[in-house]
Amino acid sequence: MPVLLKQSVDGLVADPDGVYVDATFGGGGHSREIVSRLSPKGHLYSFDQDADAMNNMIDDSRFTFVYGNFRYMRNFMRWYGHEKVSGILADLGVSWHHFDDSTRGFSFRFDGPVDMRMNQKEGMSAADVLNDYPEERLAQLFWLYGELQDGRRLAQAIVRRRQNIRLETVSQLVETVRPVIGHEREKKDMAKVFQALRMEVNHEVDALREMLESTVRLLDKGGRLVVITYHSIEDRMVKNLMKSGNIEGQVETDFYGNRSIPFRNVGKPVVPDAAEQAANPRSRSAKLRICERI
Ligand SMILES: C[S@@+](CC[C@H](N)C(=O)[O-])C[C@H]1O[C@@H](n2cnc3c(N)ncnc32)[C@H](O)[C@@H]1O
Repeated sequence: MPVLLKQSVDGLVADPDGVYVDATFGGGGHSREIVSRLSPKGHLYSFDQDADAMNNMIDDSRFTFVYGNFRYMRNFMRWYGHEKVSGILADLGVSWHHFDDSTRGFSFRFDGPVDMRMNQKEGMSAADVLNDYPEERLAQLFWLYGELQDGRRLAQAIVRRRQNIRLETVSQLVETVRPVIGHEREKKDMAKVFQALRMEVNHEVDALREMLESTVRLLDKGGRLVVITYHSIEDRMVKNLMKSGNIEGQVETDFYGNRSIPFRNVGKPVVPDAAEQAANPRSRSAKLRICERI
């Protein structure tokens, strides 16, 4: 069930003849809606770094699937012959497919290998992070990416446990961190532990920074950037980019002190209404921001 589908695609597609990018194809919900709004001249390029997304391919001559990381979006688009595009949409994070697949390790609802790689062809798994990172670095990532106050105690528990076994499964991870997480907030904090590991494994912050900053040069004047985020770390980066053109949120000035701001915000941030939140629990933390290249 694509999140904020109408609001996001309404905000994105202004020119049916344009070239658009969906940075996060996933199940293809947003992509299908975008293609349906294009004329025979328009085109959509949709990225996903997870090979499983190819099972949802759209059979349409106006559609191209790009199997790759969105951090290289600008290079890919130049490869396809487009220096500029008319709009870019990103619906960040992982898909339901990831959460529902017990073999991928994204959810604590199922036992299985604690992997969490979106691209299973490369990189280290969450098990590698848990077993090989020094305690300090583990503590840091729980604090930075999970915003968990108990980051240090969580890291200590993991290091103690791995002296006896190599942590390989979701259940071993859950058993290890459960005593540190209070019973009251167990589900919420467990989700944050998983979020932090997933963000580290997939280099989500670096990939998002590179993708967001590349949109300044990739978007045509008047082109829209439409982003749906699911937690405050992503949202802060998007908000800063839209305010200043970089994720630090620092507005740059030229030699004469003129402020150079590449975007204009379009409307206020949008969250799903009560009906959407009830129908799709994943949408509860979603926030949509739209800006236009000036
Ligand atoms: C929330 S889902 C998108 C759902 C999609 N909008 C839909 O309607 O079905 C996010 C997707 O983005 C992909 N993804 C996340 N980070 C990525 C990255 N850096 N590069 C390419 N794809 C990425 C994930 O594999 C996942 O399939």
